[in-house]
Amino acid sequence: MEMRALLGQRLLERLATAERFAVLTGAGVSAESGIATFRDPNGLWAQFRPEELASMEGFLANPTRVWQWYQYRRHVIESAQPNPAHIALAKLEQIVPTFTLITQNIDRLHQRAGSQRVLELHGNLEDHHCAQCGRPYQGEISAEIAQPPRCPSCGGLIRPSVVWFGELLPAGVLAEAEHAARTAEIFLVIGTSAEVYPAAGLPLIAWHHGAMLIEVNPTPTHLSSYAHAAIRQKAGVAMPHLVALIEQLRSNC
Ligand code: OAD
Repeated sequence: MEMRALLGQRLLERLATAERFAVLTGAGVSAESGIATFRDPNGLWAQFRPEELASMEGFLANPTRVWQWYQYRRHVIESAQPNPAHIALAKLEQIVPTFTLITQNIDRLHQRAGSQRVLELHGNLEDHHCAQCGRPYQGEISAEIAQPPRCPSCGGLIRPSVVWFGELLPAGVLAEAEHAARTAEIFLVIGTSAEVYPAAGLPLIAWHHGAMLIEVNPTPTHLSSYAHAAIRQKAGVAMPHLVALIEQLRSNC
């Protein structure tokens, strides 16, 4: 269906005038960059056990295995390029007055596409800290390092600064994301299965506070019944059209 017809008159009017936009992205936004998602049939959690690779218990049980898995993912991410969805979102930031991009992804592809301000709910793969004392680790992490380095302060194991299962999200980042959700007039949810909380709760916060919700995902999720429009296309296909339409609507105002 043509994008305008899919969105409907009420949503088109809101897209033309809304001042506050918020966006939540998940692994699906990076799928067309060649980065595996988690819960699709060929996703990472179909091949690996999250409790072994994405938890402190798993890390302490087998630090080398966990370290090498993240080194492999770092290699994939470094070889990847932002796709048209990342680029369209960077453009949207320039078009609307207040824009908050919230991501669950650790790949930094939004930043590489030009997004200025990104709230990383689950951390990122560039930063590291000590699993024991918590101090940030400043040493260089090259692809050849096959074992987790040791903390220069306490000798503890260094780990990537990503959020693992059972860990709290960075409090300041979550608070900013919740504020954006509460105040958004338009909330876009792109490429997430919406299975993992608190991230998955953000679109619902926005909905309860009166935002109009747009979902971009080839597959329905439990959020779909709340969405004012569901665009069943890949993000790299849908987002350039959607952002071009928003730009056009706003230039006619
Ligand atoms: P999932 O793998 O759970 O979901 C990916 C979603 O992207 C699915 O709903 C797919 O239908 C959709 N999708 C696939 N290809 C797409 C495309 N080209 N365009 C748009 N959508 C597409 O990934 P997340 O929801 O991001 O957490 O997972 C959330 C969290 O679970 C991750 O941040 C990670 C994982 O465990 C941690 O590691 C803490």
